[in-house]
Amino acid sequence: MRARIRELGRQISTDYANRELVLVGILKGAYCFYADLARPIRIPLWVDFLVVTSYGSKAKTTGKVKMVTDLTEDIGGKDVILVEDIVDSGLTVEFLTKKLTRRKPKSIKVCTLLSKPDRRKVNVKIDYVGFEIPNHYVVGYGLDYQQQYRNLPYLAVLDAADPDELFG
Ligand code: IMP
Repeated sequence: MRARIRELGRQISTDYANRELVLVGILKGAYCFYADLARPIRIPLWVDFLVVTSYGSKAKTTGKVKMVTDLTEDIGGKDVILVEDIVDSGLTVEFLTKKLTRRKPKSIKVCTLLSKPDRRKVNVKIDYVGFEIPNHYVVGYGLDYQQQYRNLPYLAVLDAADPDELFG
């Protein structure tokens, strides 16, 4: 995983050389990935974050995403990369891309550590993907189940595709 994240960082450095890059972390889940992705990026960049929540349980999101904390800087005219932990239905990325596009950035791309293509409900373009994974619920390295497990120093699969069944 470390090697792949370094590779993504180097790729971003090449693709965004001489541009005005804002690396936007989507919290809380992306905090570990963000820190490890930003360090191998060898070009100047702005660091910014936003916090989103989705209604319903993590496993069965109702698809309603809400931004609870906004960016601190103006992204107008800048090149933005949204940094996600995992793209599942695609609704979060779709919602944020639409919302941030209204602020007239020069470009918006998406970088995610994990992607579950089988779960997609909306067609979103993901520009940088660490790993595509099958439909398992994963925790650790920033990812949670009901706000727990984020601090595990590795990724682990909860032993069910639907953790709500597992935990009742
Ligand atoms: P989407 O809007 O359905 O694409 O879901 C994205 C968000 O759901 C991610 O940012 C995660 O917070 C959460 N999520 C989706 N799948 C998992 C998983 O397997 N483990 C932990 N969180 C997940």
